[in-house]
Amino acid sequence: MRDAGSGVMAFIKKRRSPVLFPAAALGAAALARTAFRALRRLDLRGRVVVITGGSRGLGLLLAEEFGRRGARVAIVGRDAGALDRAAQRLRALGIEVHTAACDLGDRAAAEAFIDGAARAFGRIDVLVNNAGVIQVAPMQDLSVEELNEAMRSNYWSAVHATLSALPHLEKQGRAARIVNVVSIGGRVALPHLLGYNASKFAMMGFSETLQAELSHGSAGGPRVTTVIPGPMRTGSIYNAEFGGNQQLEFGWFGLASSIPVATIDARRAARRVVAAAREGRPEVKLGLSAHLLSWAHGIAPQATVRLMGLVNALLPAPRGVEGTTRGRDLRTPAQRSVLLRLSNEAARRNNEAPPEAAR
Ligand SMILES: NC(=O)c1ccc[n+]([C@@H]2O[C@H](COP(=O)([O-])OP(=O)(O)OC[C@H]3O[C@@H](n4cnc5c(N)ncnc54)[C@H](OP(=O)(O)O)[C@@H]3O)[C@@H](O)[C@H]2O)c1
Repeated sequence: MRDAGSGVMAFIKKRRSPVLFPAAALGAAALARTAFRALRRLDLRGRVVVITGGSRGLGLLLAEEFGRRGARVAIVGRDAGALDRAAQRLRALGIEVHTAACDLGDRAAAEAFIDGAARAFGRIDVLVNNAGVIQVAPMQDLSVEELNEAMRSNYWSAVHATLSALPHLEKQGRAARIVNVVSIGGRVALPHLLGYNASKFAMMGFSETLQAELSHGSAGGPRVTTVIPGPMRTGSIYNAEFGGNQQLEFGWFGLASSIPVATIDARRAARRVVAAAREGRPEVKLGLSAHLLSWAHGIAPQATVRLMGLVNALLPAPRGVEGTTRGRDLRTPAQRSVLLRLSNEAARRNNEAPPEAAR
């Protein structure tokens, strides 16, 4: 091995190429990074993973991915029927599951769920804050109640679950993990998603503060991973809420959640999140748009705000009426569009209960 290494170095020296030295250095750095990650990789066998919003979409796929690697999982959502279907599916894969139907925006309910999971399995090793809602409408057509609901389900759910789980997680020291599924909407304010953006920006601040105080603190606490997905094909368009000109809002949002290249396959996203959690990586971005927008916003924040202003001008105008409707109750011709084929397939696969039109 040493002979081979010195042979390579001799070759590089002999050629004195300005390209070979940096290339060799980059290669060595990549190898060192891979080795370092492998050393930190968590063995999930027998571990207990709590996944908020595990009843459908990304959360359900995460439960499957953690479960396939030997973890026991606890999942929660408000809809007991969806939760039962998810639990049946996980058990059919041989995964041990604990479920509870509750609203995590309610602190006492969140505490009871976490305590129930810890009692059922005897420990908690990983918490994934994945639960979330999304309302799509111009800001003029969103009520204060809807904005409040976005904060409750996206931000306060994560705060309540984390504070309740922390005493259990801390018992596992550095082997514990907290995974916060934020969004590119928590880095760049996307038009027609006011409540969503505001709650995800709050969650981003929460996640990075946890990282500073727990991952990098001296007490050897859980490692925290911030997940920043761009649009994923989970099929959640049928559980999103649409306001303003609801049919048109569904149309553009459905399309933006379905186009290949601009969106990421949800199963692939779940695998990447599980890998990042096992390695205790601080951040993972999912999809091309998450990378491009984060990068652009990092170097020229006002330019991205202006760009979003231009995008806003292309979106449906406000109607001056409050109130939203769930995607699955809209019965819009867009649901039958071939352009939504990938999202419709994902909705069927991921327990999102699409309407007949989309089946
Ligand atoms: N899909 C995307 O393109 C995308 C992009 C970026 C980020 N994300 C984020 O990724 C996560 C998963 O997205 P998804 O597409 O899989 O969404 P989804 O299919 O709508 O799933 C959301 C899950 O959260 C649960 N939930 C919502 N509010 C809750 C509450 N107050 N208490 C308990 N459970 C609650 C839902 O169950 P109940 O409704 O039954 O409560 C459901 O299980 C979300 O945080 C989302 O913001 C998604």
